[in-house]
Amino acid sequence: MKRIAILTSGGDAPGMNAAIRAVVRKGIHDGLEVYGINYGYAGLVAGDIRRLDIADVGDKIQKGGTFLYSARYPEFATEEGQLKGIEQLKKFGIEGLVVIGGDGSYHGAMALTRHGFPAVGIPGTIDNDIPGTDFTVGFDTAINTVLEAIDRIRDTATSHVRTFVIEVMGRNAGDIALWAGVAGGADEIVIPEHNFDMEAIAKKIQAGRDRGKKHCLIVLAEGVMGGNEFAEELSTYGDFHTRVSILGHIVRGGSPSARDRVLASKFGAYAVELLEEGKGGLCIGMKNNEVVSADIIETLENNKHVPDLSLFDLNNTISF
Ligand code: ADP
Ligand code: F6P
Repeated sequence: MKRIAILTSGGDAPGMNAAIRAVVRKGIHDGLEVYGINYGYAGLVAGDIRRLDIADVGDKIQKGGTFLYSARYPEFATEEGQLKGIEQLKKFGIEGLVVIGGDGSYHGAMALTRHGFPAVGIPGTIDNDIPGTDFTVGFDTAINTVLEAIDRIRDTATSHVRTFVIEVMGRNAGDIALWAGVAGGADEIVIPEHNFDMEAIAKKIQAGRDRGKKHCLIVLAEGVMGGNEFAEELSTYGDFHTRVSILGHIVRGGSPSARDRVLASKFGAYAVELLEEGKGGLCIGMKNNEVVSADIIETLENNKHVPDLSLFDLNNTISF
């Protein structure tokens, strides 16, 4: 293999730049030519492709977002879009592709693989919702950003004796809410993977109030319902002086944490190694602290991401 390319797709995540850097530097180190594709699969189909040199990835490791830009491009789910993409790759003489993205982006990589083009997926999303890995690039930074917000909200919640519903991203997964909730000492964590009982939550808040507790922090994953809707339902059980804080896209930006940069660097270098060995159709992950790879089709079709629900039980034990 002489020439490989890289793209970032779907929701951006802190650490994507660090992964691009690792792919480019490892590739060049090993004598490959590395190309960057702008705007994910949209740029692939449009042929928005350019060669990347060592200096192109300089001063990028600390930056959030993705300097190759990203896109949501539903047309890539069609065979026509996929074949156009492969045509562009062939036109540029590219023999292998690294895709950094989430679940949807993996499906794109899976489609390329099915058409016989070697693609390797690196898990990059704040949601941590991809099978085949314990952690995705961007998740650690996201939970630390949420944590900072929770700590700040706690200050004002205590001062005014208020209940806060803090809605966090995560699409259909509760990982961000779970991890940031435990780290932030949330009174309640509400996630899609576990049912909840609004009346029991209201009773818990009241019990805390009766004990003289000043604040109540509920971390709500967006996949359950919106924060305002949740607060309205809660208010039917009593007046808890509730405020809602929707963190939204703030959680997706910012300089990547050390952990995300290291994870991204390991994944990026490993992706290049796999392509060099002529291996495609794989996704990379971190399992039990080891970098691993697995068949992308098998991984997506037979595995479902499950968050660490022991954190949910732990939180119920230690927060009341
Ligand atoms: P993420 O990768 O963060 O989950 P999306 O779900 O938006 O984000 O997917 C990113 C992109 O991946 C889509 O815009 C589309 O270009 C491509 N994609 C998503 N689903 C498929 C699919 N089933 N087949 C091929 N490409 C897909
Ligand atoms: O997948 C990342 C993510 O930020 C999700 O947490 C969220 O549901 C979604 O993307 C938001 O998408 P958009 O940026 O298109 O509004």
